[in-house]
Amino acid sequence: MGKIRIGIIGLGIIAEQHLDKYKAIEDCEVVAGCDIDPVRLNNVCDKYDIPHRYESITALLQRDDIDAVDICLHNCLHAPVSIAALRAGKNVYCEKPMAGSYYDALQMYTAMKETGKLLHIQLAFLYTYNTVIAKKIIDSGDLGRIYHVRSNGYRRRGRPYVDGYGRKEFVNSEWSGGGALYDMAVYHISQLLYLIDNPEPLRITGHVYQETDIDPYRKEISKYDVEEFAIGLVEFDNNLTMNITESWAVHMNQFEGSCILGSKGGIRLEPLSYHTNMHDFQMDASFDIGAAQYRESTLYPERLNFRESQRHWVAALKGECQLLPTAEIALNTQLIQEGIYLSAKLKRQVTADEVKEMSKSNSRFIPNLDYNLFGLNK
Ligand SMILES: NC(=O)c1ccc[n+]([C@@H]2O[C@H](COP(=O)([O-])OP(=O)(O)OC[C@H]3O[C@@H](n4cnc5c(N)ncnc54)[C@H](O)[C@@H]3O)[C@@H](O)[C@H]2O)c1
Repeated sequence: MGKIRIGIIGLGIIAEQHLDKYKAIEDCEVVAGCDIDPVRLNNVCDKYDIPHRYESITALLQRDDIDAVDICLHNCLHAPVSIAALRAGKNVYCEKPMAGSYYDALQMYTAMKETGKLLHIQLAFLYTYNTVIAKKIIDSGDLGRIYHVRSNGYRRRGRPYVDGYGRKEFVNSEWSGGGALYDMAVYHISQLLYLIDNPEPLRITGHVYQETDIDPYRKEISKYDVEEFAIGLVEFDNNLTMNITESWAVHMNQFEGSCILGSKGGIRLEPLSYHTNMHDFQMDASFDIGAAQYRESTLYPERLNFRESQRHWVAALKGECQLLPTAEIALNTQLIQEGIYLSAKLKRQVTADEVKEMSKSNSRFIPNLDYNLFGLNK
């Protein structure tokens, strides 16, 4: 099999990071790029030597020499473009969060099943060494029965655009679908779901907040209307619970990292530590991650296919490893996130079934995509 041929759609901030990573992966080449902004299109394609350039998403998807597309568009554009690409016979790698709503994410998942193509969502925390070591400990049974997990994400003052980094679409729900919960909690929740084998939630309670000051000019031009802080409590079967705290901005100097509590031991994920009783004495242990990484790179190079999302994606497309179930995990993550929004709106606990029934499409109309050709609803 030759190199995996990739088309990339949306050539903004994150696309350039993807393109840097593809450059370092020998088994793939980016042959086509698409952006609705012609200046951006040509600048980025020049910078990365991308030969085929399109302002039309349809035209890129109609190429029959592309194995996979990489979607780096804003959240509320993910679903229509992913579904069109899957129906055009392409494997799809899509940025997080999966979509602008649970409904849209489910349509993507269904299209993946119907077409038999691969759908991979960027969930960066699944590949960290902390996750790898935690997974090994959990799967070996050293934590005993896991009964509670805490998903914690902290930024002191890191709301996109209004606090500096990133574009205004992040903070406008018509483009993003949500705030801190969609942007950052997606990493922390998906990491925990992966570690505990992705159980479906039963019930969700949540609250969302926008309380701290925002630069008035940036607030107005971005049409800021999302949350900077969110909390949630998720109940699963068998008295397993997940507590969620996610902050883009908060007047507090730090939060503790996510953790997992079991009957025999506990793990904190950031920084990684293990806690148990040994011979009836409390024990707190840390790990030499650098040494483990060195041994892996020298002794087990095949494991490097699981240390970074894009390398993993290309290796899976080459048939060198099985793709992690990122679409399933991202879909379940979106169910929890939307459950928190729905609970906050209704001011009561909601069931997962209610979230599924009440979720609606949050996708934007995309002018450079042929809806009829790919059987999409406008
Ligand atoms: N910026 C980050 O650090 C970061 C990190 C992780 C994930 N992400 C995710 O990446 C996605 C994009 O974020 P970004 O920061 O790169 O945004 P961005 O605004 O920098 O880039 C989006 C690009 O899409 C283009 N675009 C918009 N509509 C289009 C259309 N119809 N057809 C073709 N191109 C179109 C824009 O012109 C722009 O160049 C989001 O889902 C975000 O959650 C971003």
